[in-house]
This record gives sequence, structure tokens and C-alpha cells, in this order.
Amino acid sequence: MAIRKVAVMGHPVLRQVSETVAPGEVGTQRIQRLIDDLIETAHEYDGAGIASPQIYEPVRICLIEIRDNPRYPHFPNVPLTILINPKITVLNDDKLPKYEGCLSVPGIRGLVHRSRGIRVDALDRHGEPLSFQARDLFAATVQHELDHLDGKLFVDNVTDTRTLTFIPEYDRYWHKKGIEMLEAAGAELRRKS
Ligand code: NI
Repeated sequence: MAIRKVAVMGHPVLRQVSETVAPGEVGTQRIQRLIDDLIETAHEYDGAGIASPQIYEPVRICLIEIRDNPRYPHFPNVPLTILINPKITVLNDDKLPKYEGCLSVPGIRGLVHRSRGIRVDALDRHGEPLSFQARDLFAATVQHELDHLDGKLFVDNVTDTRTLTFIPEYDRYWHKKGIEMLEAAGAELRRKS
């Protein structure tokens, strides 16, 4: 396993459509090692998720894991979920307003609107079919990661560029407002015990 360098905005690998993983390839050392590296890299940089193109490997693999994340302290925890060739079906197209950040857009947050309910169909790291429903912050995180597989970054979804903010200014001026918007929408947030 290895902590990998993270590609940042401007690198063409982040703008490619990633390739589908052949089901027979899932068990190969190359893919299994790539998954281990994604896990280790996400842990190192406190990512709530990471997608393969972010470590210069444009294949359709991403993961979500939220465990008392210091970058997103209000996010409910999500166990490590590895998604190979994921597809999303929107179940609830009401939009949740949410400030997002990205390891590939370091230091910046911006306001995006994500579908509040989705079904996710994918393969797990053993090549077995995986299907689950996700809502609100979990659903939004999955949508963010899937966008990476299609060469999109969250900044593409920032409709009001006046909401773009560096992190110290986010903490100072926008974090509280962001939480209030999530609360007003009725999204489940993590409560510190
Ligand atoms: Ni990202």
C-alpha cells in the first residue's frame, strides 16, 4: 500500500472520462492494489471520498468513508464503501444546498446543489454486485465522487461563483450559514456527543 500524490485542478487526468473496469479484472493485483492506495490516500488527507483519477488512474473506482471527518465535522459517518463502475438512479431530485470541497481543489469550498435521494448500483472490491440507497450528505458525497469518474469537478456545479471561498474564510463567514441551510432542509447531521 502507498499514499499516492493527488492530482489537482488543471491536470488533464481530472477531465477525462474514466474507463470501466472489466468484471474479470476486479480481482487482479493491479486493481486490488489501486483500491488499497485509494484507501490509504483518503485516510492520509482526510478525504470523505476519493476517486481513482485523483491518483492519476482514470478507471471507474471510487470510495466513500466518513469517520468523524475533521474536514467535514457535521457529516454523519459512513462506513468504508468501495464502488467499482458505479451508477446512480435519482430517487428524489429535490436539491440539497451544500458547501463542497475536494482534495483536487485544495483550499477552496463552494456551494453546490445535489439530489437528495439516490440509488447506487456498483460492484464491490470482490466484484460482487452492491446496491443501496443514500440520501442527503451521503448521497451528495457519492454524486461528487461519481462526477470525478466523468471528468467533472465540484466547481463545475457551483452556479453562483460568489459562493467560492478559501477555507479560513469559509470557517469564518460561511460554515455556520452552511449548517443552517442543511438544518433548514431537514438533512441529518452528525451531532458531537
Ligand atoms: Ni473530489
